[in-house]
Amino acid sequence: ISLAVLASGRGSNFDALCQAVERGQLDADIKLLLSDRRDAPALEKAARRGIESFFLSPADFTSRDNYEVCLLQKLREHGVEIIALAGYMRLVGKVLLQEYKGKIINIHPALLPSFPGLNAQSQALNYGVRFSGCTVHIVDEGMDTGPILMQAVVPVYQDDDEDSLAARILVEEHQIYWRSLQLLAEGRVFLDGRRVVIADKQG
Ligand code: GRF
Repeated sequence: ISLAVLASGRGSNFDALCQAVERGQLDADIKLLLSDRRDAPALEKAARRGIESFFLSPADFTSRDNYEVCLLQKLREHGVEIIALAGYMRLVGKVLLQEYKGKIINIHPALLPSFPGLNAQSQALNYGVRFSGCTVHIVDEGMDTGPILMQAVVPVYQDDDEDSLAARILVEEHQIYWRSLQLLAEGRVFLDGRRVVIADKQG
């Protein structure tokens, strides 16, 4: 499958996907990295790997729709089939959702449906849960509400702070994201209502 990654920040998940491709574990062609932030370190990470990257400034557009029409054009030009959000700090609008229905995937650093939205790790910490983790899900109109593809659990310790918990979760993110995308690449992901059903591997 051909993939585009949308990232606003550091890009460690983007990097982890690239590494999975290099190891031969993720059967994907990462066509481009798109960022809504000029200063996103993810952009440099793409350049270093020789992956085409674009910064598209939302401020240059009059609406989310117009912004996404431009994004869409880049995605089409590159024959992108699946969009992986990796620390992309914007809600996806109807333009992208329509064209890529069921084909936009996100990773969230909490066990959804708990702690959606921003600062998921500190939400979990402040709530006092003993376990947290991360979720890979299909993107719908809501904020972190779409069908769940994969989750991983980590313990929360007494002396954790936001950083220590985030680091523990990140290790798992870097595993379940490529694994989820590989299931999509293998055509094994089906929806039953809002439940994701994973078909057995053929052969
Ligand atoms: C990750 O924790 C991801 O779950 C969340 O944003 C963070 C992005 O980190 N959506 P990175 O840019 O991939 O390093």
